[in-house]
Amino acid sequence: MGLNVVILGPPGAGKGTQAERLAARFGVPRISTGDLLRDAVSAGTPLGELVKAVMARGELVGDDLMVEVVRERLARPDAAEGFVLDGFPRTTAQAETLERLVDGRGALTVVELVVPEEELVRRLSVRRVCGACGINADPGREAGSACARCGAQLVQRTDDRADVVRERLRVFGRQTQPLVEFYRRRGWHRTVDGTQTPDAVAAELAAAVAGQRA
Ligand code: AP5
Ligand code: MG
Repeated sequence: MGLNVVILGPPGAGKGTQAERLAARFGVPRISTGDLLRDAVSAGTPLGELVKAVMARGELVGDDLMVEVVRERLARPDAAEGFVLDGFPRTTAQAETLERLVDGRGALTVVELVVPEEELVRRLSVRRVCGACGINADPGREAGSACARCGAQLVQRTDDRADVVRERLRVFGRQTQPLVEFYRRRGWHRTVDGTQTPDAVAAELAAAVAGQRA
C-alpha cells in the first residue's frame, strides 16, 4: 500500500521543509501545490496567468482549478506508490475530492504542524527564497545574495509581505483550519509540534507516519 501523506498547517509552519524531507526518506514525490502554481506563474502559462493575482493577494485559488492540478499530478507514474502533499487540501471541498482521487490507494495519513501565530509571522518576515529554483534559503541569508543550490539571486516571496501574510493567516483560519476537525472525525489526524528544530520535527513526523502505517 502506498504512503499517502497530507501535511497540514498554516503559512510558515514548515510544510515545505518537512514534506521535502519526508518524501526523500520514503522515496515518494513531494507535491506542493504552491510550488506548482509558482512555477506556472514564472513560466507564464495560462494557469499561471489565471492564478497570479489571487496568489499575490494571499487568497485561495478556486477549488475546481486546484483539483484539476492535483488530479493530473497524482496520475503521473512517480506518484503510484504514494506522495507527500504540501498545501493541498486547503478547503473541505478539496478534502472531499481528495478522498475520491485516492480511493483504492490505501489509507491517507494527515499530520498537522502546530506553530503559534507570532512564530509564523516571524519566520515569513525573514524567509528568503531563490528567485529561480524556489528553495528556501538558509536562515539569515539576505535578498540579493546567491542561492546555495543554483547560484541565482535570493528574493523575498511576493506573498511574504506583512500585509499579505496577515491575509494568508486569515484565509487559513477561515478556510483550512476546519479541515483539522474534518480529519479528526475520520481518525486520520496526528499533530506534531512544529516549533522544534527541523531535525526534531522530521523525526517526530516520520514516527507519526510509520505509527499510522503499522
Ligand atoms: P503555499 O506555497 O502552499 O504557501 P503557504 O501554505 O502559505 O505556506 P508557506 O510555503 O509559506 O510555508 P510552509 O508551511 O511551506 O513553510 P516552510 O517550510 O517554507 O501556497 C501559496 C499560495 O498558493 C496560497 O496562498 C494560494 O494562493 C495558493 N495555493 C496553494 N495551494 C492551494 C490550494 N490547495 N488551494 C487554493 N490555493 C492554493 O518554512 C517557512 C520558513 O520557516 C522557512 O524560512 C524555513 O526555513 C523556516 N522553518 C521551517 N521549519 C522551521 C523550524 N522547525 N524552525 C525554524 N524555522 C523553520
Ligand atoms: Mg511551502
